[in-house]
Amino acid sequence: MSALYDRAYKYSVEQPDAFWLEAAQRIGWIETPKTGWTKGKGWFADGQLNVCWNAIDRHVAAGRGSEAALIFTSAITGRNRTYSFAELQDNVARTAGMLQDLGVTRGDRVVLYMPMIPEAVFAMLACARIGAVHVVVFGGFAAPELAKRIDDTQPKALLTASCGLEGAKVLPYMPMVEHALDLCSHKTPSIVVFQREQVQADLAARGHLDWAALVAKAPRAECTPMSALDPLYVLHTSGTTGAPKGVVRETGSYAVALAWSMENVYGVKPGEIFWAASDIGWVVGHSYIVYGPLLAGVATVMFEGKPVGAPDAGTFWRVIRDNKVRAFFTAPTAIRAIRKDDPDGQFLKDIGTGDLRTIFLAGERADPDTVHWLEDHSKLPVIDHWWQTELGWPAIATCVGLGDTRRKAGSAGLPVPGFRVAIVNDAGEDVATGAAGHVIIKTPLPPGCYTSLWNNPVRFSKAFENFPGAYETGDSGHRDEDGLISIMSRTDDLINVAGHRLSTGQMEQILMAHPSVVECAVIGVPDPIKGMAPLAFAVARGSVDQDQRAALPGALIDLVRTELGPVAALKTVYLVDAMPKTRSGKILRNTLRQLLSDEHVEVPPTIDDPDTLRRIRDVLRNQP
Ligand code: COA
Ligand code: AMP
Repeated sequence: MSALYDRAYKYSVEQPDAFWLEAAQRIGWIETPKTGWTKGKGWFADGQLNVCWNAIDRHVAAGRGSEAALIFTSAITGRNRTYSFAELQDNVARTAGMLQDLGVTRGDRVVLYMPMIPEAVFAMLACARIGAVHVVVFGGFAAPELAKRIDDTQPKALLTASCGLEGAKVLPYMPMVEHALDLCSHKTPSIVVFQREQVQADLAARGHLDWAALVAKAPRAECTPMSALDPLYVLHTSGTTGAPKGVVRETGSYAVALAWSMENVYGVKPGEIFWAASDIGWVVGHSYIVYGPLLAGVATVMFEGKPVGAPDAGTFWRVIRDNKVRAFFTAPTAIRAIRKDDPDGQFLKDIGTGDLRTIFLAGERADPDTVHWLEDHSKLPVIDHWWQTELGWPAIATCVGLGDTRRKAGSAGLPVPGFRVAIVNDAGEDVATGAAGHVIIKTPLPPGCYTSLWNNPVRFSKAFENFPGAYETGDSGHRDEDGLISIMSRTDDLINVAGHRLSTGQMEQILMAHPSVVECAVIGVPDPIKGMAPLAFAVARGSVDQDQRAALPGALIDLVRTELGPVAALKTVYLVDAMPKTRSGKILRNTLRQLLSDEHVEVPPTIDDPDTLRRIRDVLRNQP
């Protein structure tokens, strides 16, 4: 029990406006909002602020300029560099000046395709400083995905780097960027490249610009006053079609929600150090590498590297110990990878966890076994918590900052203040305790959550159609007798691969584009490290000869890699002669899943040709 949590939750749902206007006092406003939620407008409609000013300048003005703000550490190059708030201010103001020199002004979009280097953070905050809308694209996405995001948001500038470092691999970015630019219908006026020492990109050939040269001559830009309702960024996430959804995040309510969450969900205070081991290309990176900690005056760690192999499974613990990290956030998949290399937790014993108080997990369900292993070896509370790109910050958690300690391995916790979570059946009625149902959140959603999809109001409204008065999360779960909620799976065709949200429907579209494929199905199967992995079944055209058939699985794997990106991690394609289908032509994906897991296969009464199952089983048996 936590009286503080109970009081906060009750207050947040009974008097949301008062609760959030009080929370809004954590932010420095140009125009302090007097209204909370306004139907048809949003949160804090009358407020004015600048998020970059709140993340940096405010702390400098308060005399904290020399304190650590951004701690960059690379397990790959060994580079460590701490930027104080004053140094961060200088770098961000000059990067913002560079953008202004390129003609970027308030409301313009700027696409970032960047590795995990400080310049990526400078650029995000620089956009916020001048009111430009950043659109960060994860480096593990291939050129066509970058192109889709450019065409969707029509940026004035594309900021990138000469390469990314993925473990031992050096990945030159420019071939991907050039390919994406060729695929785009939109012509981006300025392409700015940060040259890293590992790869020197050829800028002259296509008239690209050198980041360092532009910044060196750029003036320092001041903060632009923004309406609370202005977009701060667009971040695309996978939906059920091939087109990514551009989640729009608003300026004011996001700042309020994040500042509140640092103190009350994560329990960290100004001057302490927070580390989210994610990537700026994901929502976790936006909210808890960049904005959340800095808004709360907390120093943030930016890490370039992997949990294992760079150099070993002790990397995370070394970063935590050496940087005096107080709260740490990672994905369960990273812990499973560490455990595989260090099953007895020897690195944890030898290195220790320094000043760490709490470990937070999200991105996929934290399986109880992983949670127990981590708690046993770290001797620290391990908190699973649940959220989505659309929500922007945790909706279900154990709010350690509110003194809560209730948790059960396998459960994501209790609804965070502001989130009215319900578990319902198809008709929208609450299900019984312990029964599985759709996870929905009653509207209006609290501050920080999305209020639109870029260029796509129709798609946005779909999430609010099935359950009137509520947002459909697309997850299913159950609530136990103590009120703790476990999120178990998706209700759509999204899967989580190493904490990355991917659409099997999109992978099917890519496979279907191959001239030799007539039918296919991609399903998520359990993976011991990544949680889930995609696996494909494909039917080849009759005209495909033996040699082509033999080469087809490899070609399809390559196709997903070049169209969607390596992050999709499709490694297995089974060629079958026909799909199991209903008489109305629907592919029986669940039956395929049962066949793969070797569990008892229930032959659906609607199946068109039951013999397809026997033949697929033969294919699976004959695999090495
Ligand atoms: N740029 C370019 N390529 C990238 C990339 C990036 N930013 N991120 C990943 N990739 C590539 C990888 O190099 C890999 O390519 P490969 O098939 O050539 O080896 C592929 O995409 C898959 O990467 P990843 O999902 O990271 O798997 P992995 O096998 O390399 O590592 C883990 C496995 C578990 C160590 C790793 O997935 C991990 O650390 N996961 C944590 C995830 C996380 O933080 N998620 C954020 C949500 S909170
Ligand atoms: P993303 O939008 O990329 O953050 O992915 C969000 C999805 O990841 C959710 O809808 C869930 O399916 C899954 N997810 C995230 N965190 C958790 C968690 N703690 N437990 C279970 N599933 C999670």
